[in-house]
Amino acid sequence: MDPRTVILYRSKHHGNTKKLVDALVAAHPEIDTIDVATLGKEEYPDLSPYHIIIVGSGIYYTKFDKDVLRVCDHCLRDGDNVIGLMTYGGAAKFNGGDLDGVCRMKMATLMCTYGCPGFDTFGPYKFVGGMNKGRPNQEDIDGAVEFYDKFLADYGEILVEERLKRDKRDAFNAAHPAGGLFTNLKRSAKKIAKRVKGDNGKATDEKTAAPAATDTPSATDEPSTSENQ
Ligand SMILES: Cc1cc2nc3c(=O)[nH]c(=O)nc-3n(C[C@H](O)[C@H](O)[C@H](O)COP(=O)(O)O)c2cc1C
Repeated sequence: MDPRTVILYRSKHHGNTKKLVDALVAAHPEIDTIDVATLGKEEYPDLSPYHIIIVGSGIYYTKFDKDVLRVCDHCLRDGDNVIGLMTYGGAAKFNGGDLDGVCRMKMATLMCTYGCPGFDTFGPYKFVGGMNKGRPNQEDIDGAVEFYDKFLADYGEILVEERLKRDKRDAFNAAHPAGGLFTNLKRSAKKIAKRVKGDNGKATDEKTAAPAATDTPSATDEPSTSENQ
């Protein structure tokens, strides 16, 4: 089975991040995409069928798009595997910490990130014709596809295997609901009661348990069975 991938993204400045998204989809038409701008405020996609969740955004005020993060916060769950995809106007090194934080809180894993400069006309940059003209360029775009291809080759198989395990765990948990505190207390009490009772259902506290081998039979004992005749 091949891993299934979705790209959840927002690209609101110049469509820079979308260029990376489009290239990934052109190279891998099986990838699904969700533009967060098309979702309603209370609309949350089901990410459960996907082995790989690529979260894409421009960097705005040092952060991933807040709607992208809100959707991640709502939709990610334990065991999800996330790749960060971003374009930015300035330096790369501080970007992505917020996405990492959301992943950690949801017990999802931010496996890796890919980023490159993007054309930026925000604030004072528009008076000088913008920063990073022509970015992402072809090399940046090809780099994103190569990055994903390598990720697939390195992790694709293991992610599918791990998901099968999670699905099995989910199915078991659904069939054996844990219940609340009262249910757990009842279950513990039942277990203790079972231990205290013997096979015949009578209480078998240690002192009254089966006689030791050295005990002599009394006059009232039943005659011996066919084994002794
Ligand atoms: C409102 C706004 C805030 C921005 N803040 C940052 C920032 O803090 N750091 C940075 O490196 N780039 C910043 N940028 C530049 C964008 O990250 C960059 O242009 C990016 O490629 C935009 O991606 P997009 O076209 O997909 O929206 C900002 C751009 C805008 C419009």
